[in-house]
Amino acid sequence: MEQYAIKGGNPLVGEVEIGGAKNAALAILAASIMTDETVVIENVPDVRDTNVMMQAMESIGAVIERIDRHTVKISGKSIRDIAIEDDYIKKIRASYYLLGALLGKHGKAQVALPGGCNIGLRPIDQHIKGFRALGADVRIEHGLIIAEAGQHLRGGHIYMDVVTVGATIDVMLAASMANGITIIENAAKEPHVVDVANFLNSMGACVRGAGTDVIRIKGVNKLHGTEYAIIPDQIEAGTFMFAAAVTKGDVTVKNIIPKHLESISAKLIEIGCEVEESDDAVRVVASKPLTHTHVKTLPYPGFPTDMQPQITVALGLSRGTSIVTESIFENRFKYVDELTKMGASIKVEGNTAIIDGVSKYTGAGISAPDLRAGAALVMAGLAAEGTTIIDDIKFIERGYEDFHIKLQGLGAQVEKINSERELQKFRLKTG
Ligand code: UD1
Repeated sequence: MEQYAIKGGNPLVGEVEIGGAKNAALAILAASIMTDETVVIENVPDVRDTNVMMQAMESIGAVIERIDRHTVKISGKSIRDIAIEDDYIKKIRASYYLLGALLGKHGKAQVALPGGCNIGLRPIDQHIKGFRALGADVRIEHGLIIAEAGQHLRGGHIYMDVVTVGATIDVMLAASMANGITIIENAAKEPHVVDVANFLNSMGACVRGAGTDVIRIKGVNKLHGTEYAIIPDQIEAGTFMFAAAVTKGDVTVKNIIPKHLESISAKLIEIGCEVEESDDAVRVVASKPLTHTHVKTLPYPGFPTDMQPQITVALGLSRGTSIVTESIFENRFKYVDELTKMGASIKVEGNTAIIDGVSKYTGAGISAPDLRAGAALVMAGLAAEGTTIIDDIKFIERGYEDFHIKLQGLGAQVEKINSERELQKFRLKTG
């Protein structure tokens, strides 16, 4: 079993290049099969979730050619099957985007109920409500979501009961090929919602208002081929920004859109870091001791739930008492037990973590419970005294490309190991 071995204590210093946004890529890949023409997508991160999504697409007949590590050429012309096998879906949550894409293009789809990180209940009722509003008959049978709309969907009016990125995008995909106009109210405003809308529009769709609460989609009969580059990953960037903070480092995070990072930068400044923005980079310098703050996760432009474990790790090392409230997913503090093994003093009550800052973490043997918490525990290991071994790094690899290699580039002592012997070698090397 692969693990990360980390010898903590080195400040991260230098520059790191951010890849394409995983969550935008997942939806854009799915959307690419809505045209019979060829689509070229650039800046696709080479992570497990995007690779599983492409395997699922190939399993129903899409032809995918990798032009280079981050560029793929996709043809959905030969898709005959509209049923996605269980195995693929269990691995990723975003396979629900194939439901929206297939339903929009072919008027029917069958996808197994989605998997993904275990961070709480993850219902899909808003996706189903949206498809029904577009005239589809949707039912769940034998673990499959079956959606059928005869020949074509028709435009509809949908008010989302909760702000949901997944359902907003899924309905947007389906509606872009429906007959007539669809209005989505209380839509999610995340940068990747806008990116997917821009991608659809580059294929000839007519999506307006993405990035606001109300999205208006005028359905078209046909979408055409396009070439499109995915936006940079807000959460990968935020993770490196907080990694700079916890290691008292000085990191320039390159190839980003600073606007997407405003809530993250604001919190870093609040806890005592310097943040310098330029056109497509942001530098985080942590030269002073970190101080406490309060934070509540919220839909964009609020502080992202996908950055909650990372800020908690930083606040665990900040002077005073901090409070973190998780308002999106109800089971997202599972990593706190692991952090406690490293010396953190955190009490979780319901959806709130009360954190008493400690002066240091100490290395321990821990497990990554999910993608973002896994990355946050790596950060804790980098800040800790001594050696940390992290199990279950497959979760981290779902969403971070070359995570340990990028960290090494910033001076971190971290290696991927696969045996006791490799661990001994690491211990000898790092002293
Ligand atoms: C996506 C992201 C995930 C991120 C989350 C919130 C992907 C693949 N994953 O997840 O990394 O943490 O957005 O930014 O893009 N909800 C319902 N009914 C639904 C759908 C959602 O009640 O039909 C609720 C969820 O339980 C949650 C909230 O809405 O409380 C937000 O979920 P949503 O934005 O849909 O998250 P995901 O798309 O699953």
